Amino acid sequence: MTRIKHMLSAKNAFRAFMVMAVSGMLFGACKSDPNSPGIEYMPDMYRSPSFETYGENEVYGQKIMSARVPASNTIPRGSDNLPYPYPNTFEGYEAAGANLKNPLKASEENLAEGKVLYTRFCVHCHGKKGMGEGTVPTNSEYPPPPSYSKGLKDLPEGKMFHTLTHGKNLMGSHASQLTKTERWKVIFYVQTLQYPEGKSKTEEVKEDTKEQEESK
Ligand code: HEC
Repeated sequence: MTRIKHMLSAKNAFRAFMVMAVSGMLFGACKSDPNSPGIEYMPDMYRSPSFETYGENEVYGQKIMSARVPASNTIPRGSDNLPYPYPNTFEGYEAAGANLKNPLKASEENLAEGKVLYTRFCVHCHGKKGMGEGTVPTNSEYPPPPSYSKGLKDLPEGKMFHTLTHGKNLMGSHASQLTKTERWKVIFYVQTLQYPEGKSKTEEVKEDTKEQEESK
């Protein structure tokens, strides 16, 4: 019995202590200064030690810029960042033409996205029909690019990719505007412009894959 009483009183003492502690905290938070933030629980969460990306900050004991250049001989993750193996030479161009194949699926979706990219990055020179009738050559001294459906009709996709990556004569490189995946998408669309009168290469590919799937 005395033991139980003892426990009860310990419980009560604990309760009283908690009431006092909580009300102490509550009243402690009241300050007459309206600009005071009161007591801050874990102040680091309010005032994080934020770094200015391009400013000088103390990192590992050194005062350096916190945005660092990547370590040498490293590349960011993702297949779009793999180095392009063909150099900007005649041999590189020929090798790309012979070996490079579009890794993407010839789907309606990729073709549609390729069209959007073409309208943004190519149409002003190459024109809607891809015959070199863009506004840049028609309104200036800029020589019109060759027509996809005539001079470039048989141009392999690997060479297109190479030209998009390194540029060729008057056409600049588009490597900084388009990721590798985007370059392949726009190539799907260029291939439809190579065949305005009939089946595009893309459509042929699509039919092939359909037949393959059906015969499975
Ligand atoms: C500033 C104008 C301009 C823009 C923008 C431009 N091109 Fe070109 N393009 C040219 C010219 C000029 C040539 C002819 C280069 C040569 O063979 O001398 C060319 C050639 C090409 C060729 C043939 C390359 C070869 O290997 O012979 C392809 C394919 C091509 N462009 C695709 C594109 C695509 C796709 C875009 C958009 C992402 C684009 N171009 C944007 C001007 C342009």
